[in-house]
Amino acid sequence: MTRGLFVTLEGGDGSGKTTQAERLERWLVGRGRTVVRTREPGGTEVGVEVREIVLHHRGDVAPRAEALLYAADRAHHVATVVRPALARGDVVVQDRYIDSSVAYQGAGRVLDPDEVRRISEWATEGLVPDLTILLDLPWEIARRRLDGARTRYDRLEAEAGEFHERVRAAFLGLADAEPDRFLVVDATRPADEIADVIRERVRALA
Ligand code: TYD
Repeated sequence: MTRGLFVTLEGGDGSGKTTQAERLERWLVGRGRTVVRTREPGGTEVGVEVREIVLHHRGDVAPRAEALLYAADRAHHVATVVRPALARGDVVVQDRYIDSSVAYQGAGRVLDPDEVRRISEWATEGLVPDLTILLDLPWEIARRRLDGARTRYDRLEAEAGEFHERVRAAFLGLADAEPDRFLVVDATRPADEIADVIRERVRALA
């Protein structure tokens, strides 16, 4: 069976993941690869409905329910989009994956990070990215960027600065624990430079 390449982008809100995912996709297509660019939550029709609940539900969502909703979105997405694409030999460039759950629901919501990870490992039957790009940015800078771009914050973005700093520290801890899988990029750098660093790393794999 051919096996594609699974690249995920992680980082806080406002860290520039979408811009870099677009650029990486364009570059890979230029090299003749078929790219599936997708995201969690919301990479499928079912996921769009889950995304609406986790990001825009007006009342409280219990932390464990939130963790399970992200995992449910992920289960469906991996089964119907990501695994089929990898089986075809495509490159999947994905905005957020399991590391987001460990950082946001684990460190952010203060659930047990190992339990949060295990739920997603079950949901995905253990699918691990070949490469995870972490766009690291202090929350103060991210918030200023978002203030310029947003008319309203979603449920997660609206959390206090302390929440986002916990999330950031958790991402950095995950990267430290798996240096082979992660590429950590300083997201205060200009977008062009970041795109270069990412291409350099992906070139070795694709
Ligand atoms: P994202 O799509 O990156 O936001 P936007 O489209 O507004 O740029 O992510 C949506 C939010 O979901 C983000 O605040 C992080 C959160 N999230 C989790 O809390 N856990 C998860 O497992 C995932 C995938 C996202």
